[in-house]
Amino acid sequence: MRRPVIVGNWKMFKLLSESVELVLDLKPKVVNSHHCDIVVAPPFTVLKTVNDRLEGSNIKTAGQNLCEQTGQGAFTGEISGAMLKDLGCCYVIIGHSERRQYYQETNDIVSKKTRAALNAGLKPIVCVGERLEERENNEMEKVVGQQVYDGLSGLTEQELSLILIAYEPVWAIGTGRTATPEIAASMHKFIRSVLSKNWGKELSENIRILYGGSVKPDNISSLMAEPDIDGALVGGASLEANSFAQIVNYK
Ligand code: PGA
Repeated sequence: MRRPVIVGNWKMFKLLSESVELVLDLKPKVVNSHHCDIVVAPPFTVLKTVNDRLEGSNIKTAGQNLCEQTGQGAFTGEISGAMLKDLGCCYVIIGHSERRQYYQETNDIVSKKTRAALNAGLKPIVCVGERLEERENNEMEKVVGQQVYDGLSGLTEQELSLILIAYEPVWAIGTGRTATPEIAASMHKFIRSVLSKNWGKELSENIRILYGGSVKPDNISSLMAEPDIDGALVGGASLEANSFAQIVNYK
């Protein structure tokens, strides 16, 4: 049985005081939400403060990105997996479409970052998803299949068991245009078939696959009703405690 997980991706939002306000508001609203794992991914600059404020709560944190290099070194501006772990993060988002689109992250970089995250003891949330023109050209399975295969290549079975995948069709992110539960479910099923083909059925059944792209309080239940959808990666609606708590408490 896969445990549901709801992740809030704050992106480049929230100053320090706003972050504190948000988590203090959120904590009591989800304190009794034991049916799922709850994760927030604040910007690096507020991670330490947010982690301190969340200590002892049922909310974990994720980095939004990490450097593909392990250890320490002369990589100006970069943040290592060990640094995220040191601040108390349990997860890290990798290969978000905004990273792929604006910062030229390729499947190869995603694979290296996934390896770096695992080396640091973080659970990678590996993002995949097709662009609008790829869907219109009916290339979504080719694109997403390749992203999954390349992103996870070279990992051992034990490492793969720690991975989460987020299916986020690029055309649905921040557009208000959610994939219908049917579209999302069919892509999740496809992703699971890619996992099964390459790494075995048992492993594919254990990996959690999240949906992301305009998830809101009013569409979360229908998405979570799909057996292959194990959670959500939420952007805009995670910036406000009420809406994120409603999403967490979708049941
Ligand atoms: P959105 O973002 O919920 O604002 O569409 C999702 C994401 O980018 O992870």
